[in-house]
Amino acid sequence: MPVLLSNKYPGPSPVCPSHLRRTAEQLLEAARRSDHELSLLLVDDRAMQEINRQWRHKDKPTNVLSFPQADDDYISPQPCLGDIVISVDTARRQARQRGISLHHHLTILLVHGFVHLLGYDHEGSARQAEEMTALEDHYLHILATRRTKMVKLAINVDHVATLRQARGNTEPDPVTAAAIAELAGAVGIVVHLREDRRHMQDRDVEILRKTVQTKLNLEMAAAEEIIAIALDLGPDMVTLVPEKRQELTTEGGLDVAAQKEKLRDVIARMTAKNIPTSLFIDPDSKQIQAAREVGATFVEIHTGRYADATSEAEEDQEFMLIAAAAEEAYEAGLRVNAGHGLNYVNSARVAALPFIEELSIGHAVMARAIFVGLDQAVREMVDICRFA
Ligand code: PXP
Repeated sequence: MPVLLSNKYPGPSPVCPSHLRRTAEQLLEAARRSDHELSLLLVDDRAMQEINRQWRHKDKPTNVLSFPQADDDYISPQPCLGDIVISVDTARRQARQRGISLHHHLTILLVHGFVHLLGYDHEGSARQAEEMTALEDHYLHILATRRTKMVKLAINVDHVATLRQARGNTEPDPVTAAAIAELAGAVGIVVHLREDRRHMQDRDVEILRKTVQTKLNLEMAAAEEIIAIALDLGPDMVTLVPEKRQELTTEGGLDVAAQKEKLRDVIARMTAKNIPTSLFIDPDSKQIQAAREVGATFVEIHTGRYADATSEAEEDQEFMLIAAAAEEAYEAGLRVNAGHGLNYVNSARVAALPFIEELSIGHAVMARAIFVGLDQAVREMVDICRFA
């Protein structure tokens, strides 16, 4: 195990440990040090202040500290580079100030600590500082280009239809919106054909089936009338969601565990037509296992509670549930998407999660499009996904 990660952050940690470990392993590889061990310790500000005071006589927390391994104080079959200690509290504060995702900032801190372990020290001289920065940039570039995944962005165009239905005429047309979203970089179009037809109409999905160039994801309730339409239409995938007539928008995940027989049957009918099925679920282990049992191809993890959180602590807690659910679903052999309530502030963190393939975003993009235009609104969200 070349990277020994110890998470000593008290309480719920907003870090996805497996993602960070993988980044550290890639860094060892990039530096041709895969035969070395690296120890990574995550702490809070209190513990960091204590370490900083004890070893550097500085009585304050800091973001990252490195401790190279002395030759004689470790007996291991593998050589060890040393320890990198990161304060999650400081990292999170700095990430927010810089407007980047926590994982992105953790990567920057990890690389900084790692380059110290290689013997560089920016406090030595201006020249050393310059060399160190150049090496850090080099590794950051390698890590960015070696990323095994970039989360994809699917745009939900329901709200364009909502605006049209407000007047009951023909504009704005969600078909045009879908084309603009694709041209701006979306790799999927999502539409929810509700039983009450409050926004998307049958005509819309029929035309979109013919015009969408990327992937058409039909969101729907497991209701006979809509199932028949889906089987006839043949979208690239369907996402089954719970649907209540009184709700403003989808309010929560499907209770898959409570309706396994019904969902198994719907999924089998879709599969017979080569239509993969996704189940929109809360980040809950019971629902993930049920989704696997009924034969779903994807789950879409409901991010609504994370998006609606009213405090940082609540947001962190909900984020952790999403991170853990994504990993569990992936381990169970499911493909993993996420969505609901994601916007220009809260998406980066979800996009940075390693096991999530695609984000489904509608309202925030359409709301921004009113002011900046749909093309720009989609491009800005694509950038968030790309650089998360
Ligand atoms: N995913 C699902 C299953 C949804 O029902 C919705 C809302 O239609 C979304 C994603 C997109 O949510 P939002 O419009 O809040 O981005």
